Amino acid sequence: MVVDTPAWQHLKRHASDLRGQHLRDLFAADPNRFQRLTVRWSQGNDWLLDLSKQRITAETLPLLAELWRTADVPGWIAKMRAGAPINHTEGRAVLHVALRNMGHDGGPIKVDGRDVMPDVQAVLTKMRGFCDAIHSGHWRGATGEPICDIVNIGIGGSDLGPRMATQALAAQHVPHLRVHYVANLDGADLATTLAGLTPRTTLFIIASKTFTTQETMQNAASARAWLTAALGEAAVSRHFVAISTALDRVAAFGIDPANAFAFWDWVGGRFSLWSAIGLPLALAIGFDKFAAMLAGAHAMDEHFFSAPPQENLPALLAFIDLWNADFLGLQTRALLPYSQSLGLLPRYLQQLEMESLGKQVDRDGKSVGCPTQPILWGEPGTNGQHAFYQLLHQGGRTLSCEFIACREADFPLAGHHEKLLANCFAQSAALMQGKTEAEARAELESAVPPEPTSSGVHGAVPPDPSFLAPYKVFPGNQPSTTLLLPKLDPHTLGALIALYEHKVFTLGALWNLNAFDQWGVEYGKQIANALLPMIEGKAPVAGIDSSTAGLIDACQ
Ligand code: F6P
Repeated sequence: MVVDTPAWQHLKRHASDLRGQHLRDLFAADPNRFQRLTVRWSQGNDWLLDLSKQRITAETLPLLAELWRTADVPGWIAKMRAGAPINHTEGRAVLHVALRNMGHDGGPIKVDGRDVMPDVQAVLTKMRGFCDAIHSGHWRGATGEPICDIVNIGIGGSDLGPRMATQALAAQHVPHLRVHYVANLDGADLATTLAGLTPRTTLFIIASKTFTTQETMQNAASARAWLTAALGEAAVSRHFVAISTALDRVAAFGIDPANAFAFWDWVGGRFSLWSAIGLPLALAIGFDKFAAMLAGAHAMDEHFFSAPPQENLPALLAFIDLWNADFLGLQTRALLPYSQSLGLLPRYLQQLEMESLGKQVDRDGKSVGCPTQPILWGEPGTNGQHAFYQLLHQGGRTLSCEFIACREADFPLAGHHEKLLANCFAQSAALMQGKTEAEARAELESAVPPEPTSSGVHGAVPPDPSFLAPYKVFPGNQPSTTLLLPKLDPHTLGALIALYEHKVFTLGALWNLNAFDQWGVEYGKQIANALLPMIEGKAPVAGIDSSTAGLIDACQ
């Protein structure tokens, strides 16, 4: 177990030496702390990762790098790139990096001895052709009208990636085409989306790796009913395309195989944005920009594969997560992008990180022996400041915050971006340094008393400093990371997502976990299948606990 290794024991000792030290003191003791604990990545147009507000010192990262070597992360990277079945519980290779390897002299990438690159290239070519046909109006609906609305029906990895990236790249959208996303089994999702659309000019993308997922199949059937009610059965071939690894099921659903875009079982659902699953995004921004996003991800791949651990951005993010979860005992991490366009990033990363690493059984079927993935949540700034930041500052819990900001605005409205950055940097400073009672009192005492009003009477009586000071104390010492990006564009976004993918990979290797299966989502689905006939009144309500039976009864 990783917890039994000397590297882990060294970290444990180091954590106990650091206990009780306040971040404010660490900053005071070292004027070069920022320089020492900041990493830049110039290949990606000057990225900056500031770890100086984490509860670490210059000694911490070398100790974490020792763990990287102990866990043989480079060996795991080599296995992934060689197409070894490192998703061992499903017997699958993990090769999303192959999806962005084209045109970069990456050479062949083999699974079971076969180079997958020609297949990858062929699907990309088909996607480009389809995007061009839709954008040019060459592809027409059944009545001869061009397509104005695309509705992607998918869930989890077949929804969150393209949905998040479509919002993130809103500044890059092609004109005259709207892309919508429907995921939820709740009919409200599909019904409200379709309410504003016209069947004649709407095209559906049914995106499902397995083509069996209940939510997607139900939404696809309802979408099909909506379309055929207006245009007849023959219209399906002009208004439905599919993305799947199960092309036989696509055909059984009635979608023309010529309108199907394949991907492969070596692409995990939550890592599939780079595959044909990215089609709605490519339609939203145009294929060239989609290719630029792939190139950005490839640049991050190269960085991850070659940089030493203490300069390796994915490794560093992984180190901080592991340090906070296992040595500081932090149970949650807040992802706080100061970018409206990255508003869906927390949701996307919830699947990427929590579905990958929310596990306690290691690769040998034994307990990992330590806490793994923290609970990840978040909201874009500054909105969150007016909702939950009160708790971050004074709620008495320690958690790690991850701020993301862009140097340049993607929507450069005068007066906005400087204020956004000021708020972002202010929050991490406040969380780090806090405010003592003496400082709070001094601040209150030096406050200018209110001016007399025109009637000569003072306004509100200034509060007594000793009464108010305790409420204005901020404990601080709340750790945070800040990732400063250049302008949000397809290349940067691609690299950003790949950064988190490789962080997940690294943590999987450090914890000796399979980050690529998801058995934990099966049990609930299994019970739902058993309950459905009872709820439909087709089977007796029996063989289940009294609470669940009572809830079903209450719906009859
Ligand atoms: O939530 C479980 C899961 O299997 C995810 O891993 C996957 O992204 C999602 O369901 C959707 O699966 P599919 O693409 O097969 O419909």
